Amino acid sequence: MSQQLGGQPIIILREGATRSRGEEAQTNNFAAARAVAAAVQSTLGPKGMDKMLIDGMGDITITNDGVTILKEMDIEHPAAKMMVEIAKTQDAEVGDGTTTAVIIAGELLKNAEGLLAQKVHPTSIAEGYRMAAAKALVLLDAYAITVKPTDTAMLKKIAETALTGKNSDVAKDHLCDIIVKAVTFVTDTDGTADLSHINVEKKVGGSLDDSALIEGMVIDKERAHPSMPKSVKNANILLLNAALEFKKTEVNAKINISTPGQAQAFLDGEEQMVHTMVDKVIRSKANVLFCQKGIDDVAQHYLAKAGILAVRRVKKSDIENIARATGGNIVNNVDTITAKDLGTAGLVEEKTVSNDEMIYVSKCKNPKAVSIIVRGGTEHVVDELERAIHDALMVVSVVVAGKKIVPGGGAPEIELSLRLREYAATVGGRGQLAIEAFASAMEIIPRVLAENAGLDPIDMLVDLRAAHEAGKKSFGLDVDAGKPADMLKAGVVEPLRVKTQAISSAAEAAVMILRIDDVIASSKASGPAGGMPPGGMGGMG
Ligand SMILES: Nc1ncnc2c1ncn2[C@@H]1O[C@H](COP(=O)(O)OP(=O)(O)O)[C@@H](O)[C@H]1O
Ligand SMILES: [Mg+2]
Repeated sequence: MSQQLGGQPIIILREGATRSRGEEAQTNNFAAARAVAAAVQSTLGPKGMDKMLIDGMGDITITNDGVTILKEMDIEHPAAKMMVEIAKTQDAEVGDGTTTAVIIAGELLKNAEGLLAQKVHPTSIAEGYRMAAAKALVLLDAYAITVKPTDTAMLKKIAETALTGKNSDVAKDHLCDIIVKAVTFVTDTDGTADLSHINVEKKVGGSLDDSALIEGMVIDKERAHPSMPKSVKNANILLLNAALEFKKTEVNAKINISTPGQAQAFLDGEEQMVHTMVDKVIRSKANVLFCQKGIDDVAQHYLAKAGILAVRRVKKSDIENIARATGGNIVNNVDTITAKDLGTAGLVEEKTVSNDEMIYVSKCKNPKAVSIIVRGGTEHVVDELERAIHDALMVVSVVVAGKKIVPGGGAPEIELSLRLREYAATVGGRGQLAIEAFASAMEIIPRVLAENAGLDPIDMLVDLRAAHEAGKKSFGLDVDAGKPADMLKAGVVEPLRVKTQAISSAAEAAVMILRIDDVIASSKASGPAGGMPPGGMGGMG
């Protein structure tokens, strides 16, 4: 790479670095970013298809979840990676709408290309897109409907829309019930729900219908010793963050033993110490013990003799959730146990689930942490179900916190498209062109929903626009009937934040990619020129 200066080339980059500029750089980036959108397009909506992804180790993932697909695909191109980031942000912020966000970004870039071909400057397009995105958020906010966080019927519909198209359709009603109940349990009085208090345990085996909500905690552990009771009713639970074992001295002490009696006395001393610790546990009147650290053989023996069900080496996060579920406190020292520290549960038992022992802490009163046990015939089914449940838990908690919803099925996108065109007319000039391009990019969502359902996208768009022009603002695509229908009546509803987040991050990414006119890759990084040919990922689409 060189500049000319009076006929003499001046080299400013290290050898091996590649550089692409201007139109070449743009074309390259656009093609790569759009290839990412094309790759996930066929999975959108209730009739979307799944993808089978095989990693370097030969492990298979079958999914329809945008962000999972993009994470598993080994994407190298820097512009393509920016698209993957959109999906990741969407997933982290709102859990759902990952495919939507990526598809919108792809369409924004496609329409920008059209404008570039008409010699509209990239910064004008970027400016128009920013204005349009800001306006879209205002329009959406006015378009949204406020719901009560206690409206469980509505929350179930939100969960149901998020689950649509995942292969969990069979047990949907049951699952939505579990999801809404779980979020309700962990919602604080201020309306925020911390989903880390919902423990999702996967176990292959059984069927989707066997998935269940446990009003308490399930942990993948077994009793410390088989002679301990297998189940304890009306459990008083001690949560201990200290080891019940003889502490080895930190420094190397030398003990001189000259007679067998001395050795025995030494061992007895060790045992006595453990015994004293266990006695304190027994005196606390706990009949169940969850210990974050170890419980040695001697301690196990004494605990079993006292009829205590003990579990050792419980994960920190699990013990914290058990504390929330049972109302107990975690105690750091056996000397400081008080009656108030004990948690309670109607039943603690060890159950065998698909040949594995699990401890169920159930029938808790008003638990602030709960578990969902996810069952299904194969590992792939269970994994995909877990992802679907994650999406659904997120959307329900987003609605509980934000209280605003929009109809789905492409209804908000059609509405935005129409309103943004009106807005464009008021702006005029070059901005108008870019805002119009943004407006028509919104139609990609109903268009793809129609395509994936085997419907004629042009007909569907015409019908949808007509419905919205006639004031039927909540009309989206009924993919089964193949015509517009009232999505609120059909129960196809989504959190407002899923849409606002998708649109703002799609617009941001599109603007960022649009403004790049020079790509300089050092020799180490695989630059876009060498890394991936434009459209190189199109094969997935
Ligand atoms: N029953 C339904 N009828 C029509 N559209 C639906 C239905 N259920 C979901 N959708 C729409 O499908 C889209 C979401 O599809 P999905 O595959 O979950 O992708 P994403 O990753 O973007 O959430 C949304 O536009 C949503 O409104
Ligand atoms: Mg979804």
